[in-house]
Amino acid sequence: MNLAFSNIAVEYSSSDKGGESLVALENLSLTVGSGESVAVIGPSGCGKSTLLRLASGLLAPTSGAVEADGARVEGPRRGTALILQDYGLLPWKTVRANAELGLTVQRVARAERRRRAEEALAAVGLERFADAYPSELSGGMQQRLALARAMAMDADLLLMDEPLSALDALLREEIQDMLLRSWRERGYSQILVTHSIEEAVFLGRRIVVMAPRPGRIVAELENPEMGRADYRSSEAFFERCRAVRAALERGTRGGGPEADAASGGVADGEAGCGR
Ligand SMILES: Nc1ncnc2c1ncn2[C@@H]1O[C@H](COP(=O)(O)OP(=O)(O)OP(=O)(O)O)[C@@H](O)[C@H]1O
Ligand SMILES: [Mg+2]
Repeated sequence: MNLAFSNIAVEYSSSDKGGESLVALENLSLTVGSGESVAVIGPSGCGKSTLLRLASGLLAPTSGAVEADGARVEGPRRGTALILQDYGLLPWKTVRANAELGLTVQRVARAERRRRAEEALAAVGLERFADAYPSELSGGMQQRLALARAMAMDADLLLMDEPLSALDALLREEIQDMLLRSWRERGYSQILVTHSIEEAVFLGRRIVVMAPRPGRIVAELENPEMGRADYRSSEAFFERCRAVRAALERGTRGGGPEADAASGGVADGEAGCGR
């Protein structure tokens, strides 16, 4: 599944500021190739969730276009699974029913639904909680449930909005490993929004760095070593983390490629990447 954003602008109009509008994204172009994994990182308010809403068809751009395999995205599509920042769980349904939800919407038969949901719940370690309700789960467990629901869907595009932010460090790495395995085995395209530099470098084959006011892309870093054995503890991993951090800092300073060139800095994507 090939996803393309071309020259996107998104303006939110606010009714309480005399009709004043807020430019959430400006002049944004990005392509996610078939089977590619893209991590998106940037400070709060730079438009990351807005980008995922566009990709999922929940939001239409003010100008520009979003295309999935060449067809304009004009609403939710069957092959897209989205994990929302607030998990999007239904409190009145059990854990199992929540895990099955995407499949229910897809009208998958009951037995098949149950089988796939239970497999996904087991993959995130929630099999014993199938009959509980979301309110009985911790924040991290709710997050894993949202993940299980998306994994059960057999999507060709997986969109994740900070899916692991509520997990403790070790569990977080365990679920990251699971996400990496699943992406490799199933070959879907994915966009992962995260605030964690390490997570972006572990799971993004390409890392997109954004900056706010207006929300835009300030750097794209290739991360070809992603997925290698023991990548997390390798020198290349730490180098790449440093490069992402530097790009984030440049973006936050209001810099960007022009400012870097003016100050004699390195070009985006090349900073300390060790290539
Ligand atoms: N429905 C909306 N109406 C008006 N403004 C909005 C709306 N949704 C988002 N915004 C504004 O658009 C900008 C981008 O929001 P978005 O949620 O995409 O940021 P984000 O990068 O996901 O932030 P965070 O890291 O905090 O989740 C913010 O300034 C936000 O206030
Ligand atoms: Mg967000």
